Amino acid sequence: MARIAIVTGGTQGIGLAIARELKAAGDTVVALDCKPDPEALGQSLGFAVRACDVGDFEQCRAAVAEVEQVFGPVDILVNNAGITRDATLHKMTPEQWRQVVRVDLDGVFNMSRQVIGGMRERGFGRIVNLSSVNAQKGQFGQTNYCAAKAAVIGFTKALALESASKGITVNAVAPGYTDTAMVAAVPAAILESIKASVPVGRLAQPEEIARCVAFLASDKAGFITGATLAVNGGLYMVG
Ligand code: CAA
Repeated sequence: MARIAIVTGGTQGIGLAIARELKAAGDTVVALDCKPDPEALGQSLGFAVRACDVGDFEQCRAAVAEVEQVFGPVDILVNNAGITRDATLHKMTPEQWRQVVRVDLDGVFNMSRQVIGGMRERGFGRIVNLSSVNAQKGQFGQTNYCAAKAAVIGFTKALALESASKGITVNAVAPGYTDTAMVAAVPAAILESIKASVPVGRLAQPEEIARCVAFLASDKAGFITGATLAVNGGLYMVG
């Protein structure tokens, strides 16, 4: 059955792979991103793109209202948008802390809050939140990111409890180091040592993360809720 899916940060990296995977599964996909000229970007990508800064509650409200008016009620929300501002805590500025928490954590609240009421009324919904292996194991230079991404796991569990009786599942995927621009920005020598510590010996491809998200977003995954799926090539083994 065709579902309406929103993917935040869905125009590059893991988010783009998720948007493509959901589209291939037959869903109607709308990517939200804060890049300029979203409509033209959508034409080149082959699915709709709308402008939205997920850190801004009002922009999220307006974007979801427009998506629902044009495409219909949102069945699937993938909270993928995320940023890093790496620095050791003794050097981290309040701005670096705030920017990461605003996008990576506030963004999850700002978007989920827009869709949860409708999902409850209709008795169906899938919310998939992107966390990180670094939320689970910690990472030098990422107190801001690790804190925000670990909070996403707590959010996921609490919302899963609130939603379980309403046909809505809420899960997290915790990717390991993936072949994206975000990871390419890690200093080369550090990235080499990280790669060497991954048991499978390589970065993930975005599609490998996207397939897991698409499964959790599918009708097949109705009995999985409150879970965090680690997709990290063995870098950190949880549970
Ligand atoms: N463990 C222990 N010590 C370390 C270390 C580590 N992993 N990395 C560096 N150090 C040491 C250095 O050897 C150095 O020691 P000395 O002072 O004795 O020479 C010291 O720490 C440097 O500390 P600084 O505060 O001066 O660090 P810096 O400013 O040079 O760099 C940093 C800090 C920018 C955070 C840099 O370490 C870095 O970029 N690290 C990579 C962080 C990372 O992995 N980010 C992931 C981004 S991708 C992502 O997040 C996606 C996802 O979900 C997986």
